[in-house]
Amino acid sequence: MKSEDSRSKSRPSLCVVGMGYIGLPTALVFTEQLPNVVGVDTSPTKVASLREAESPILENGVQDKLSTAVKSGRLKFSTEIVSAENYIIAVPTPLNEDNTVNMEFVETVVDSIAPVLHGDELIIIESTSPPGTTARMREKLMKLRPDLEFEGSDRPTVNLAYCPERVLPGAILEELRTNSRIVGGDSPCAIARASQLYSKIATSEILETDTKTAELTKLAENAFRDVNIAFANEISMVADAIGSDSSEVIRLANRHPRVNVLQPGPGVGGHCIAVDPWFIVEAAPEHARVIQAARRANDAKTDWVVEKILEDVEDQGWSELNVIGLTFKADVDDLRLSPSIRAVHQLASRAPQLTIYIYDPYVEEVPDELRALPNIKFCAARADLAPQSVTAFLVPHKDEVDRLTSNPDEKILDFTGTLNRKR
Ligand SMILES: NC(=O)c1ccc[n+]([C@@H]2O[C@H](COP(=O)([O-])OP(=O)(O)OC[C@H]3O[C@@H](n4cnc5c(N)ncnc54)[C@H](O)[C@@H]3O)[C@@H](O)[C@H]2O)c1
Repeated sequence: MKSEDSRSKSRPSLCVVGMGYIGLPTALVFTEQLPNVVGVDTSPTKVASLREAESPILENGVQDKLSTAVKSGRLKFSTEIVSAENYIIAVPTPLNEDNTVNMEFVETVVDSIAPVLHGDELIIIESTSPPGTTARMREKLMKLRPDLEFEGSDRPTVNLAYCPERVLPGAILEELRTNSRIVGGDSPCAIARASQLYSKIATSEILETDTKTAELTKLAENAFRDVNIAFANEISMVADAIGSDSSEVIRLANRHPRVNVLQPGPGVGGHCIAVDPWFIVEAAPEHARVIQAARRANDAKTDWVVEKILEDVEDQGWSELNVIGLTFKADVDDLRLSPSIRAVHQLASRAPQLTIYIYDPYVEEVPDELRALPNIKFCAARADLAPQSVTAFLVPHKDEVDRLTSNPDEKILDFTGTLNRKR
């Protein structure tokens, strides 16, 4: 029988749980620095394709690094948690219908790590989480493993840390190295161990703090952007009401040395900015009034866009409308929580006589949410749009902005604030 010591030595150095947009690139960069890394995912199809060195995500550089890592044998994949020296948890933390956070994925992972702990591990949560999560997960583990010690200050016991991710999709591998890194721990040992681990991959600053501060900081970053976009959206509606051009207003205002207004749009989507501010609201609703109002204002902007288009449809008697832009933001193929899709859905449902031609250079097939609507015509190419009809421009993909800017005569309803035209 193996001794406790030899078992510890043969453990993988790192087990990354959740092989998605965050977990897989993280496992890949650590594989270049650590001898033995395991990536865990509950999806058997994902694990099967990862073992074949086929990346389940489209992200610059990931496929190449995955091929190298699998070939070298330094990165392995499993559908089950394995015993390891360090853990990084990168599973989803979505919203429930009522805008409260669903922590069941993180809780399930913690439940499955508990039985394989030896007593000296570092467990890092990277999933975006409400303040207090790391402390709650520590309490959970302490109940599940009363035989182990947690957070000893001068020697490795079981330590927990919270280290949020702030990478930009498309540049994840690069930003994992170059972004400054927040390390939250509640004991000197937890902080030192997590900092040491990230210093293996990060060339940038490592900023140390406690877990609650780290958790709230991540949420504050995304809420800041949400509030700023809500402000831009409000300016765009005020400008429209007084017959002014919001893109000109924002462009001029941003010439002030201490002003930086973001761009308005048809609302806010995606899995981060449209979600994370609710975690703050849930934590302290009585103190998060601006954050809550911004979330609602950004959602309401989509309804305003729909009303404006419907007014024009009625006034002008249009029977056809083009829409350009379906993704949740410019220059990505991500459709999650896209306000543009919500707007098109509302338009098609409320104006069944209107045929809506939809086109997005990053989207290859009709999004699921729009599939059943009979008056929607998906256009795989821009040339398939209705030639004489007005176009509602909803997502400022760079190539489309360039094209529309150089065609000032095209009939456009611009809701992106990028074309320098009144709506
Ligand atoms: N994607 C981003 O740009 C980004 C940026 C910052 C923070 N985050 C946060 O990081 C976390 C992960 O996000 P993501 O975009 O990588 O998610 P994702 O949906 O791309 O991947 C999550 C993976 O976890 C797996 N999973 C679910 N439950 C599991 C379990 N019990 N055990 C093992 N695997 C499990 C899923 O099958 C999936 O493959 C979220 O909290 C998110 O908010 C994401």
